[in-house]
Amino acid sequence: MEQFVVEGGNRLDGSLLVKGAKNSMLPIMAASVLNSSEESVVLHNIPNIYDLHVMKNILGALGFEVVYRGDTLQVTPGAEIHHTIPDEFMKEMRSSIFLMGPLLARLGKVKLTYPGGCSIGPRPIDLHLKGLASLGVQVREENGYIEASAEKLLGTDIHLDYPSVGATENLIMAAVLAHGKTIIHNAAKEPEIVDLQNFLNTMGCQVRGAGTEKIRIAGVPAAGGCHYRIIPDRIVAGTYLMAAAITGGQVTLHNIIPTHLDAVVAKLKEAGVEIQGTEDSLTVLNGRLQAVETLRTLPYPGFPTDLQAPMSALLTKARGDSLIVESVFEARFQHMQELIKMKAQVSVKGRNALITGVERLVGAQVNATDLRAGAALVLAALAAEGTSVIQHVWHIDRGYECMEKALGQLGARIQRTSGLDLSP
Ligand code: EPZ
Repeated sequence: MEQFVVEGGNRLDGSLLVKGAKNSMLPIMAASVLNSSEESVVLHNIPNIYDLHVMKNILGALGFEVVYRGDTLQVTPGAEIHHTIPDEFMKEMRSSIFLMGPLLARLGKVKLTYPGGCSIGPRPIDLHLKGLASLGVQVREENGYIEASAEKLLGTDIHLDYPSVGATENLIMAAVLAHGKTIIHNAAKEPEIVDLQNFLNTMGCQVRGAGTEKIRIAGVPAAGGCHYRIIPDRIVAGTYLMAAAITGGQVTLHNIIPTHLDAVVAKLKEAGVEIQGTEDSLTVLNGRLQAVETLRTLPYPGFPTDLQAPMSALLTKARGDSLIVESVFEARFQHMQELIKMKAQVSVKGRNALITGVERLVGAQVNATDLRAGAALVLAALAAEGTSVIQHVWHIDRGYECMEKALGQLGARIQRTSGLDLSP
């Protein structure tokens, strides 16, 4: 089981190019299933992360030819497209659920097992299934399988009980080939949904309003191939800004969209981090870390839940008490007990965590439990005294391309080793 060995204490200095967004890439790869033309879908700015290869294998199993070269992915429909998602992929990656909408739109049917839950919570899909049913989809759930089908999808008004990112994306993809118009109310407003809209419109679909709580879709007869460049990863960018800040270093991130990080930059400034920006970069200068009264995660444009763990790591070194409120997921504090092993002072109660900043963190052997928790442990290890060993780094590889290389080029002392899995 691979692990990172980190020698703490080095400042990070220099600059980094941020690659494409995992949470744009995955729904857009799923949406490429809608392409019924001879032309391929060609996607640019694709990061070489583990989840890319899982989705690539799923598309292969569905009958698509998928070629990944450099940072470009080419997806070409084969002669026959299948409607069943292999079980092993559903268990491996929850985002396989994104394939329901496009397969129903393209083939009128889909069969899959329930996506696995994970360490951040049960991850239900009720909003997806309810929205699909309102589009005329019959959903049967038995023996752990979901079989969904529709003679034809009929446009309608859908009111989401919660602005779920995945449900919004799945329902957009189901509606783009439906008969008539669909409006999704209380839609999620994340930048990755705007990216999906722009991609679908490049395929010939008609989607409007992404980025607001009301998205309008006019069904079209078919969608075709196209070239498309996905947006930079705002969560990877935020993670590396925090890595610079926790080490007191000076780092510039290029090829990003700073406005996607407005809530994150505001919170970092509140925590004493000096930040400057241009239209496509952000630079962390050094600053004296201070506690923030409250860090509450919210749907976009609020502070993103995906940066709660990295920000928690940063706050373990900030003078004073910070209250963290994780309002999006039920169980997204797995990293806290690992940070405590590094002498952080944290107390967790339900969805609240109180962090009291300490002068020094101490290197320890810790476990990554999900990709953002793993990233948080790397940040703490960079600032800790002595050596840390972070186990199960495959979680981190799901969303960060070669993190040890990126941090190493900024001056971090971090090695990937294939250590023995010592955990019970
Ligand atoms: C997406 O997950 C992201 N994943 C997550 O990023 C991100 O944390 C999340 O959105 C919130 O921003 C991808 O885009 C691949 P949700 P998703 O549906 O779509 C509840 C990462 O680290 N809910 O907005 O699964 C759910 O339980 C990952 O990159 C229902 O109750 O998130 C959660 O409490 C982690 N019923 C809340 O909504 C449903 O049918 C938000 O979930 C669907 C969701």
